[in-house]
Amino acid sequence: MYSSLAKYYDKLGFNEFAKAFLLKALPFFKKYMQNHRVPKPYLKIIDLACGTGELCRLLNKNGFKSCGLDISRDMLIIARQKNPKLKFYNKDLRTFSLKPKFHIATCSFDSLNHIMKGDELLATFKNVYRCLYKNGLFVFDMNTITGLRNWSIQFVNSRKDYLIIRNGGYDDGNHKAYMFIEAFVKSKGKCYNRLYDVFYQKGYPNSTVRRLLKKAGFLKITMSSFHQEKPVAQCGRIFVVAHK
Ligand SMILES: C[S@@+](CC[C@H](N)C(=O)[O-])C[C@H]1O[C@@H](n2cnc3c(N)ncnc32)[C@H](O)[C@@H]1O
Repeated sequence: MYSSLAKYYDKLGFNEFAKAFLLKALPFFKKYMQNHRVPKPYLKIIDLACGTGELCRLLNKNGFKSCGLDISRDMLIIARQKNPKLKFYNKDLRTFSLKPKFHIATCSFDSLNHIMKGDELLATFKNVYRCLYKNGLFVFDMNTITGLRNWSIQFVNSRKDYLIIRNGGYDDGNHKAYMFIEAFVKSKGKCYNRLYDVFYQKGYPNSTVRRLLKKAGFLKITMSSFHQEKPVAQCGRIFVVAHK
């Protein structure tokens, strides 16, 4: 996953979600800074499954102290090119542990749905809990089972500089979804680069996400609909703030 896509991730617009995520998360960061009297430049944020480092870049631009972590070396090559002064860790969410601690951990754009088993999601939540200071926040979004059902489609998106074909499927039996991506991205002259990639995701009931966060030690958990188009029980993407 992501090895072919990494180089073109931003060009194909996948990085745009980071901006929407930051807009959602900023009020919670501000409240945290007020409640715990941490001035902005000292607020340490780690973006987990940071991909090409777009959220790290935006956080840094907004005056926060940010760093990133991702399992994909290819995604991190781009993240480091974009953010030469920021620290990036090449680690797996399911097994990581870090010496530094953070006030806030983020995990955006359904990255947690890449964790395909409940016990691995619990291990991830425990690792996040451990990397936070006392009172720290874990802020993330996830595709819901309802959201992943919509992956059972084929669609083509044609833009000036690229054409992207998505071919997805969803298995209601085990709540697993896949998405094949084939894209043609304009390079020099009349040439296009052709790439393939495939992603797998798992949907968890909202109650399971909540239960596993509690089991990992998180105390207060707020869950809302990311796009606020529907009540949380029926939405396609949840936005979660978990307090240590
Ligand atoms: C959809 S991308 C999101 C990237 C970024 N958060 C964003 O908003 O653009 C999912 C990311 O999760 C990473 N990822 C998937 N499984 C992971 C794991 N077990 N540990 C760490 N990163 C993982 C992938 O390498 C990829 O960069």
